[in-house]
Amino acid sequence: MADEMNQKQEEEQPIPLLTPHQMGRFQLSHRIVLAPLTRMRSYENVPQPHDVLYYSQRATNGGLLIAEATGVSDTAQGFPHTPGIWTKEQVEAWKPIVHAVHLKGGIFFCQIWHVGRVSNYGLQPNGQAPISSTDKPISSTDSYQHSPPRRLKTEEIPHIVNDFKLAAINAIEAGFDGVEIHGAHGYLIDQFLKDQVNDRTDEYGGSLENRCRFALEIVDAISNAVGGDRVGIRLSPFANYCDSGDSNPQALGLYMAEALNNYGLAYCHMVEPRMKTIGEKFHCDDSLLPMRNAFKGTFIAAGGYDREEGNKVVAENRVDLVAFGRLFLANPDLPKRFELNSPLNKYNRETFYSPDPVVGYTDYPFLETDS
Ligand SMILES: Cc1cc2nc3c(=O)[nH]c(=O)nc-3n(C[C@H](O)[C@H](O)[C@H](O)COP(=O)(O)O)c2cc1C
Repeated sequence: MADEMNQKQEEEQPIPLLTPHQMGRFQLSHRIVLAPLTRMRSYENVPQPHDVLYYSQRATNGGLLIAEATGVSDTAQGFPHTPGIWTKEQVEAWKPIVHAVHLKGGIFFCQIWHVGRVSNYGLQPNGQAPISSTDKPISSTDSYQHSPPRRLKTEEIPHIVNDFKLAAINAIEAGFDGVEIHGAHGYLIDQFLKDQVNDRTDEYGGSLENRCRFALEIVDAISNAVGGDRVGIRLSPFANYCDSGDSNPQALGLYMAEALNNYGLAYCHMVEPRMKTIGEKFHCDDSLLPMRNAFKGTFIAAGGYDREEGNKVVAENRVDLVAFGRLFLANPDLPKRFELNSPLNKYNRETFYSPDPVVGYTDYPFLETDS
């Protein structure tokens, strides 16, 4: 009898990931966020009709979705068929996708990025060199060929900040509820933040304050343009993807978390230290807790989470929201599955980035809840 009562009590406990959270002006009904996921199905950098189904499949009433990394200008691309938001055509193409998410009550932020040196001549206008904080090429090799970058001149930097600002304005014009500035994973902003990459001698290099200047100028410009409560930022101080390590990631993460308090942002989104590269989880004793405690707004963590660990970190108040990447990619109804503690579909790496508009994209099955 006592056992039965205990079990009943356990069943009646709210599932931490499924409790509501007020994120500034947005009332979220649960804490399971769709992490930004590049899917390379936006042919010629234009979002496609098949994205309507993909995103609306993952939308829930009061759930936060973050769209895949979306280019801020014609120099921002590092991979084929990634979407942009710098042309009128792209803005128009995003509108039905955003509308479909809103019809289901979802809250939709657009992740905006510039890849900087994680690019090559073939992806740049007129075959020019990719831009960066540095002229040092990426030394590590992967399946993409990276061309040596051109170091941005100091006086060019305000133009790039402005590109981010215009992209954010465009995202709001497309209907998005806000933007997430992609400051993670070794792309342009991270190339300024990290001392393994940034070898500048002007006011954008050297000290921690100088290396963070570019990121904070972007945050400032976008917050002024669309309102800080419609802006989030993603950072990965501990990651070293594309040679983007830092000698003191704790200090970097903490400096940014504190500086971000000045802008009244919707959220700060950090990638767990154990994700040294995208998609690989390592054992790591570092923690995001000091940054979570320093940042006075909604804090999202991502990287290697499952239902159990997500519930744990929410219950312990170590995070407000948890972003799920691969699990949400393969389980369009992830919040429902977490609610019912149902088995999950397995993701298929082979189709993460393949251009097919259906296979590995919108054909992951939903739970059959009728049976
Ligand atoms: C296919 C794929 C695409 C990704 N694209 C992006 C992206 O566009 N922007 C970004 O910030 N992170 C991107 N990531 C990283 C994820 O957002 C997430 O941080 C990572 O998958 C770890 O979370 P997980 O263990 O829940 O999958 C990508 C990851 C995968 C697997």
